[in-house]
Amino acid sequence: QYTPNRLYRQTPHSMALAAAAERIAAEFEYPKEQVQKGVTAFMRQMDEGLQVQGATLSQIPTYVTAVPNGTEKGLYMAVDLGGTNFRVCSIQLHGNSTFSLTQSKVKIPGDLMTAKTSHELFSFLAKQVETFLKTHHGEHYSSHVERRKKSSMLSGESYSDEDVFSLGFTFSFPVQQYGINKGTLIRWTKGFDIPDAVGKDVCALLQKELDALHLPIRVAALVNDTVGTLMARSYTSPGKTGTLLGAIFGTGTNGAYVEKLSRLTKLAKMGPEAGDVETSTGEMIVNTEWGSFDNHLSVLPTTSFDRTLDAASNNPGIQMFEKRISGMFLGEILRRCLLALIHDPSTPLFTDEHSNQNDMHSTTNIHDDSPLYRPHGLDTSFLSIASGDASPGLKVTRQALDIEYGVSAASAEDAEAVRLISSAIGKRAARLSAVAIAAVVLSTGKLTNTTGNADDDTIDIGVDGSLVEFYPNFEDYLREALREVPSIGPAGEQRIRIGIAKDGSGVGAALIALVAERERAGGNA
Ligand code: GLC
Repeated sequence: QYTPNRLYRQTPHSMALAAAAERIAAEFEYPKEQVQKGVTAFMRQMDEGLQVQGATLSQIPTYVTAVPNGTEKGLYMAVDLGGTNFRVCSIQLHGNSTFSLTQSKVKIPGDLMTAKTSHELFSFLAKQVETFLKTHHGEHYSSHVERRKKSSMLSGESYSDEDVFSLGFTFSFPVQQYGINKGTLIRWTKGFDIPDAVGKDVCALLQKELDALHLPIRVAALVNDTVGTLMARSYTSPGKTGTLLGAIFGTGTNGAYVEKLSRLTKLAKMGPEAGDVETSTGEMIVNTEWGSFDNHLSVLPTTSFDRTLDAASNNPGIQMFEKRISGMFLGEILRRCLLALIHDPSTPLFTDEHSNQNDMHSTTNIHDDSPLYRPHGLDTSFLSIASGDASPGLKVTRQALDIEYGVSAASAEDAEAVRLISSAIGKRAARLSAVAIAAVVLSTGKLTNTTGNADDDTIDIGVDGSLVEFYPNFEDYLREALREVPSIGPAGEQRIRIGIAKDGSGVGAALIALVAERERAGGNA
């Protein structure tokens, strides 16, 4: 399957290297039968999660009971704590399926991801919001914040509602939600680890820090990025049937979809407030937290590289699906594969073929301080570069190796080995992603309900994240795997429309803040 079509020389060295690279690439094959098995297991784990709390697939009720139709209007704020960046935005919804967005983005400092206390992280977030308000809504800031500061000195925190911005808080971690703006952190994922936040209401943590700065902002909605993506996609491309699924393939992976309340049987057991939900739609968006699908590894493909990556992670045994799919981990899988080749004396990668292979140190072209030697030193974006490299002699890959990774004089054969393995890892990720999408499409019964009208029968899916956006052919590989699922087949695959909802989580959070505000006002229009 992985033909080394670009090997330029047939020397013993390069042939041995090619064979070794093929061997590793083959470990990442994820054949048709396995895909089918994966879909069956995924559907079973989805069902379980709808019925009981604490199942492998968390299937978290979001209390969002309708998707937008594009007519929503207003000015909202949103903040987004994802995996890599923190974004603050204000969003003007124009009511005609369009919006304008002003945003600022900062990379989350590494030490805050594992800060000693949640106060450190959340006060940093509130500071960013303050800076954003000053910069982009200066008038609002000066008139309202000054007034608030004064009034809080005179009479405690009392100010009128009109002063206040409603904010949607996109917090892309597993949260047990108790209401539209209430939810406690279940566990951290994607490299975050701040123990005291676990079990706390993250909306309250943010609200407290915003209040400390006297900012005129109410955290109105708590939103997972997948839910935001689903809402944003529904707002911008309203079809007759609405969007079924919002999915992220970025630093992490996850999906949220529209589920029938009657199937979400655990809701009634989750306390009086939760059990009371009634909706005109009879539906609720459910955040699957599919990153933890099959944590016990009953069907997931597993190589020795997956195993050592997991063991070295800060959450071994958890997020096993995510660890095979998402941007936080694919680069690390590749790095581990390359190290295996580098350390194998019979197939040394990045060495001069005429050198003495028994003396690794004198022959290697890798600098001692190469990021390849550091855990998570290889970025997933490099996987995209190598997989998609069509330059003569794979020059682009060799340049990236040289400039970013301290490998000088990598040969075309070296680069070919890297390309082969990168593609295999990326392709497996895309095929695994198809398992999740297929399972949601099948378990919601959307494929069997047909009207015969192509527009009505389209199943709409909104996606976002660096992997779908930048990994070459991600969607093609994914679709190929969808067609291989017998109950979907080519006809079903064609009915599935996948569209990027770029930065949808911000817009989505604004939309949910809007819904929350309406509910607060008692209206339901
Ligand atoms: C992780 C988080 C999840 C989020 C996903 C994508 O899986 O647990 O909540 O949606 O990453 O960002």
